Amino acid sequence: MEDAVMESMRLDRFLKEEGIATRSELRKIIRKGRVKVDGEVCTDPGHHVDPEINQVTFDDTPIHHSEYVYLMLNKPKGILTATSDRYARTVLDLLPDKYRLMKVFPAGRLDKDTEGLLLITNNGTLAHNLLSPKKRVPKLYEAQLDRYPGDSAITAFKEGVVINSEFTALPADLRFISMEPVIALVEIYEGKFHQVKRMFKAVGAEVVSLKRLKMGQLTLDEMLKPGEYRELTEEEKTLIGAE
Ligand code: URA
Repeated sequence: MEDAVMESMRLDRFLKEEGIATRSELRKIIRKGRVKVDGEVCTDPGHHVDPEINQVTFDDTPIHHSEYVYLMLNKPKGILTATSDRYARTVLDLLPDKYRLMKVFPAGRLDKDTEGLLLITNNGTLAHNLLSPKKRVPKLYEAQLDRYPGDSAITAFKEGVVINSEFTALPADLRFISMEPVIALVEIYEGKFHQVKRMFKAVGAEVVSLKRLKMGQLTLDEMLKPGEYRELTEEEKTLIGAE
């Protein structure tokens, strides 16, 4: 893989990343002697392997390494959340080509004029878990509004804003952190099309600008300027359930 740096890692972690089993199941599997490293049975789950160098087998079937990558992007306004587009620049155009080769995609969607936290990964299972409506992963947004919609908006959000006859939003937490300009923090547990904008519209205010600050336990690194990205730290990967 183009200049991707592989590191040595624990045998149980390597096999977990390959989707063989959960970490606790893997410890048993390894202790039973079903895993070999370079042709030798290895019963130590903490034994370090380098996926680029060592040949690992499970029940004598070779395990080929597919590296997962997790990037935090501070999405700027004006960029599409997509992997490619004939006319517009997409979030993948902000990354070096090596990530495209690793088949990364955005986990979730921000509108073209929304900025802030976007997770980009090639781990489809993890992305699915974060985005599944059933999992109710909270997302925190900062919204600047054109006017103050009144305290009643806080209650309406708490009870679930009626958007139209087909869609009532799940209960959401709303608080105001500034009045001039009017800036609100809103935490929602689903991610329908234009959700935050439509929720504020339903209580009589227009969203002037929108920024995502958090997704689950993952917080936007304020050191990242719009358009900048970095790989998640080990701690952040744990927070999103990647490790
Ligand atoms: N809600 C919106 O209205 N837009 C976004 O980009 C994200 C949430």
